[in-house]
Amino acid sequence: MTARLDKDRLAVLVHEVRSPVAALAAVAETAAAPPDGESDALPALVRLALSACRAIERIVMDVAIASIRLEPVDMSALVSDAVAAHRVQGADVAVVLQEGLLVDGDPVRLLQVVDNLIANALVHGGSSEVTVRASRNEDAIDVVVSDTGSGIPTDQLDHIFDAGVRLGVVTPGSGLGLALARAIAEAHGGSLAARSAPGQGAAFTLALPAILDQPDTAASSS
Ligand SMILES: Nc1ncnc2c1ncn2[C@@H]1O[C@H](COP(=O)(O)OP(=O)(O)O)[C@@H](O)[C@H]1O
Ligand SMILES: [Mg+2]
Repeated sequence: MTARLDKDRLAVLVHEVRSPVAALAAVAETAAAPPDGESDALPALVRLALSACRAIERIVMDVAIASIRLEPVDMSALVSDAVAAHRVQGADVAVVLQEGLLVDGDPVRLLQVVDNLIANALVHGGSSEVTVRASRNEDAIDVVVSDTGSGIPTDQLDHIFDAGVRLGVVTPGSGLGLALARAIAEAHGGSLAARSAPGQGAAFTLALPAILDQPDTAASSS
């Protein structure tokens, strides 16, 4: 199965994105210089800007998903690459891998998901220990990114996957990473879920359907 972003679909998406972007620009211009007597229009403008942002977010996710191209992907190699990219920037990330974990996936998008989870663990988990594990779990390949940071309140565990949601963090970010990551996981027939308890760190599990008939896997770590 291959989902490609063909030229027609791309043209539609480009067209669709113009309208909320134009709305956003108009809102910003009006807010910067409100017409006489309309200085109290700010809350309405902010609502308009928010709904334009939501529309753009939805379209961006559509593009990310519609452009997915599936090929056999070795998740142990992909996780190694993702971890290596953070290690060269000085991050301390532990990794525990089984060999030969094949999925049908888009290597660029899946790398984006794993990279995002590691970046979140490093940024939102404070200076906690970050570990990435990849293993076969029955018919699925699980990639688990865990940290020992401050964790996430139980009642927010699903909410953090909504676009734009950030739990009072002051670091730069858009609040879109997890929404996009979950959309990409689901577009692969997989899932992305979080487990956490306040003060006990967080663990995010990306589960993808395995390509079956793989030889037995052996554990290794570095
Ligand atoms: N490992 C983590 N530990 C604690 N909180 C997290 C973790 N990962 C994500 N979060 C929370 O979920 C929110 C949404 O994450 P995300 O969608 O990646 O957006 P961003 O990283 O741009 O804030 C974060 O702002 C943070 O509040
Ligand atoms: Mg993020």
